[in-house]
Amino acid sequence: MTKDLFEAIRERRSERHFKSDPVHDDIVRRIVECGLKAPSAGNMQPWQVVVVKRPELKASLSKAAFGQKFVEDAPVVIVVIADPGRSASKYGNRGSELYSIQDTAACVQNMLLAVVGFGLGACWVGAFDEDAAGQALELPGHLRPVAMIPIGYPKERPMPRRPRPERPWDEVVTIID
Ligand SMILES: Cc1cc2nc3c(=O)[nH]c(=O)nc-3n(C[C@H](O)[C@H](O)[C@H](O)COP(=O)(O)O)c2cc1C
Repeated sequence: MTKDLFEAIRERRSERHFKSDPVHDDIVRRIVECGLKAPSAGNMQPWQVVVVKRPELKASLSKAAFGQKFVEDAPVVIVVIADPGRSASKYGNRGSELYSIQDTAACVQNMLLAVVGFGLGACWVGAFDEDAAGQALELPGHLRPVAMIPIGYPKERPMPRRPRPERPWDEVVTIID
């Protein structure tokens, strides 16, 4: 890893422009491993991960994501999939409807931070037709693809990026002494 955790958290931004340079398999593996270290309710780990490099499949995912072209352009796309039934087996509806989604979100965020650590860029893509994505990946019906993460080396930018607007602390945070 090239960056410490706090740097990675501060510097992470959604990247949607990638060079065509490939991302080494061992780096992809380490990114996925970071995802799989995420906490999950009851340690159920209700996730599956598909790593997509095949161009035709990336094109299908891009189409499922309503034409978001950078999904296709990234050298690798990691799809994080929830298995709600796995969480339901321990926690019923709360497991399937809430925990399985929270757990997979934590998995995604760990991967996004690992991506920054490796000097790569990525974007959390959640806007897609779930059925179309599931069909493209040939997933059994009980699994829910929850996020696509296109990953690659960021293209250089002609201009520095604008800082991200953030809601003011006092609007968001309540401290109760
Ligand atoms: C649940 C979720 C779904 C998202 N879906 C998309 C998406 O489909 N396409 C996209 O370009 N960005 C998507 N984003 C990225 C957000 O637009 C981005 O995180 C937000 O604007 C803040 O910018 P930043 O990531 O650079 O800090 C998504 C983010 C989240 C957390």
